[in-house]
Amino acid sequence: MGESRRLNPNILVTGTPGTGKSTTCELLLRNLPDYTYYNISDFAAKNKCYDGYDEARKSHIVDEDKLLDELEPLLHSGGNIIDWHVNDVFPERLIDLVAVLRCDSSVLFDRLNKREYHSSKIDENMDAEIMGVVLQDALDSYEEQIVVELQSDDTEQMAANVDRVVTWTTMWKEQHPEGVTNELSAHQAKKERNDESEEGDFEEQGSDASSESESDSESEGSK
Ligand SMILES: Nc1ncnc2c1ncn2[C@@H]1O[C@H](COP(=O)(O)OP(=O)(O)OP(=O)(O)O)[C@@H](O)[C@H]1O
Ligand SMILES: [Mg+2]
Repeated sequence: MGESRRLNPNILVTGTPGTGKSTTCELLLRNLPDYTYYNISDFAAKNKCYDGYDEARKSHIVDEDKLLDELEPLLHSGGNIIDWHVNDVFPERLIDLVAVLRCDSSVLFDRLNKREYHSSKIDENMDAEIMGVVLQDALDSYEEQIVVELQSDDTEQMAANVDRVVTWTTMWKEQHPEGVTNELSAHQAKKERNDESEEGDFEEQGSDASSESESDSESEGSK
C-alpha cells in the first residue's frame, strides 16, 4: 500500500482568545476558497467531544482524545485551516504551519471587555497573552521553522498577515510538488515517544488549564 500524502498544507491559526483567529481565518478562506475551515470550539460541540463542564470558567472541557479521533482523518487530505487557542494537541506530522496571533495588551483588553467576560476570565487571558503562553506552547510542540508569530492589533496588520500566509501556501506548493507524507518520520516518532513518557506525571494532576475550551458564544459574532 502507498503511504498517505497531502498535496496541500494544514495551517493552524492559534493565539489567546480575542487575538483575532476567527476573523483572520475568515479572511484567509476568502483567499483560499478550496480550504476547509475547522473552528475547534464549534467542532468539539458538534461532535460531542466534551469531558465535563468547568463551572469556574463557564466552559466545556474538551476531550482531546475524542477530538483527535474525529479530526485526524479529516486532516489527511490537507488544505485545512484549524482555529483554536490550544495548539499543542495536534499531531506534528499533520501540521505544516502554526500561525500564532499576538495582540497588544490594551487592544486585547478592549476586545475582551466588549464580550462581557467575567473579569477573572479577562485577567486570565490577558496574563496568558502578556506571558506569551500560546507562542511558548507552539514552540514546545512544533519545529521552530513552522511557527510564525503574527502581530494582529489592527486591520492593516491582519491584512498583511493574511497576505503572508497566502504567499506561504503558494511557496509550500512549489516546494512540495509531490505533497508531504501523513506518516510519522523517524524523528517525530522518537519525539512522540519521549513526550508520552514525560506526559504521564502532568496529566494526573489535571493541571493543563490551557486545554479547556472557551464558552465563546461571543466569538460567533465574526461569522
Ligand atoms: N487585527 C484586528 N484588527 C481589528 N480588530 C480585530 C483584529 N483581530 C480581531 N479583531 C476583532 O476582535 C474581536 C475578536 O476577534 P476574533 O473573534 O476573531 O478572536 P478569536 O481569536 O477568534 O477569539 P476566540 O478564541 O475567543 O474565538 C472581533 O470583534 C474582531 O473583529
Ligand atoms: Mg474565534
